[in-house]
Amino acid sequence: MSGSAPSTVELIERKKRGGELSPDEMRGFLSGYLSGEVPDYQVAAWLMAVVWRGMTEAETLEFTRAMVDSGETLDWPGLDRPTVDKHSTGGVGDKTSIVLVPLMAAAGAAFVKMSGRGLGHTGGTLDKLEAIPGVRCELPLDEMRAQVRRIGCALVGQSGELVPADKKLYALRDVTGTVDSMPLIAGSIMSKKLAGGARSIVLDVKWGSGAFMQTLDDARELARTLVSIGNGAGRRTRAVLSPMRQPLGRAVGNALEIREAIDTLHGRGPADLWRLTLELGAHLLEMSGLAASADEGRASLTWLRDSGAGARTLQTLIEAQGGDPRVVDQPDLLPSAPVIHPYTTDLPGWVAQADARTIGDAALALGAGRKTKADPVDPAVGIVVRARIGDRVEAGQPLADVHARSESAAREAIERLRSAFVLSVRPAEAVPDEYETVG
Ligand code: URA
Repeated sequence: MSGSAPSTVELIERKKRGGELSPDEMRGFLSGYLSGEVPDYQVAAWLMAVVWRGMTEAETLEFTRAMVDSGETLDWPGLDRPTVDKHSTGGVGDKTSIVLVPLMAAAGAAFVKMSGRGLGHTGGTLDKLEAIPGVRCELPLDEMRAQVRRIGCALVGQSGELVPADKKLYALRDVTGTVDSMPLIAGSIMSKKLAGGARSIVLDVKWGSGAFMQTLDDARELARTLVSIGNGAGRRTRAVLSPMRQPLGRAVGNALEIREAIDTLHGRGPADLWRLTLELGAHLLEMSGLAASADEGRASLTWLRDSGAGARTLQTLIEAQGGDPRVVDQPDLLPSAPVIHPYTTDLPGWVAQADARTIGDAALALGAGRKTKADPVDPAVGIVVRARIGDRVEAGQPLADVHARSESAAREAIERLRSAFVLSVRPAEAVPDEYETVG
C-alpha cells in the first residue's frame, strides 16, 4: 500500500465501484471543490457515481459535516431559550412555518427559520412572507441574532455565509441530472439545519403528487436518512411523514396563504393545517423540554393560539422585520387580485382527486410562483380550494376560486383546474389524517 493520498480520479473510480470515501478523503474532496482545485467535471462524475452507488450511513454523515464546515455556523451562547428548527421537503399550500414559528416563540423556544424562495409548483416561505407590505427577509446574521435574542424568532432567507458548499454543489447537481439521490438530498437538507445551530429539529417529509417524494416508501427512506444524520450529529431529530395529494389548507398563492396562516392563528384556519402545525410543534416542544409529552405540547400550542399569544408574536415578528403588523388584525391590507372567478362543477359527485401538483402548476401559471430563479412573483394571485378529497359536491358548486391579474389568466387557470379535480359517482375516501413519525 502506498502512503500517498489517492488522486481525485481514484476517489471517483472507487465510488463508481460502490466503495466508500474515508472522512479525510471526503473533506479533502469537498474542500478541493470549494477552492477550485477539484474541477466541476470531476465533481459531476463523482455525483453521478453517488446517484447510482449511494453512500453508507457513515459517509453520508461525514459528507453532511464537511458541508457544514464549509461555512459559518450559528451558535447561541448564553441564550435562555431552547433552540428549535423545522424543515419541510416542500408542498403546495404549505404555510405551516408562518403559523408554527410565532407559536413556538410564544411557547419559550428560539426559532430561526431559514427558508427559500419557491421554484416550480411549490411555493417558498420567503415569497409568502414578502407578500406582507414592507417585510424584509434578507437580514444580516448579526441583526438576525439580535432579533432572536429579543423576540425569540426570525423568518429569514438562507444566509449565504452558511453552507456555501451546498449552494455550489446544488447548482452543479441541478445541471448534471444528479439531484435525485437520497444521501445527496439528505446531506443538503441537514447541512443547512445543522449549521443553523438548533438542538431540536423536526422534519416534515411530504409524499404524494405535489411533493418531492412521490411515494410513502421514498418519503420513509428520506426521513430515516435525515433523522440518522441529525442524531449522528448530536441533535434531537424527528421526522413526520405527511400526505401531499391535495394542497395543505385551502389557499395556494402568497398573500392568500398569509391570510390563511393568520386565520389559523386566530383559530379560524383549515383543520389539516392546524393538525400538522400541532403535530410538528408538539414534537419540538417535547424534544426541547418545553413540554413533558407531545400531548402536553399540543395542549400548550392550542392555548397559545386561543389566548392570542401566537397572533401577537406574529405581529412582533412582522414589525421586527420591517413589515406592517396591522395585517394580523386587518388582513384586507394584504395585496389582493383584481379578478376572482369560481371554478364550478357541472356534475354532482364525490371529490376523488384535487391534485396538488396540478393546482400548484395552475397557481404558478397565474404568477404566484416562478418558473426560473429570476422570475418575479405576483403576491396577490392564486387559488383557494373549496372542495377536499372525500367531499360531496352538487352541480353548480364551486370547487375552487381563482384569484387572477386578468380575465384571460383566470380563464387559463380554470382550464388547468379541470384536470386537477376528478369527481366520482361513488363516495370517495377522505385523505387519512394520521402521521407516521420517524425517530
Ligand atoms: N432540498 C434541498 O435543500 N436540497 C436538496 O438536495 C433537495 C431539496
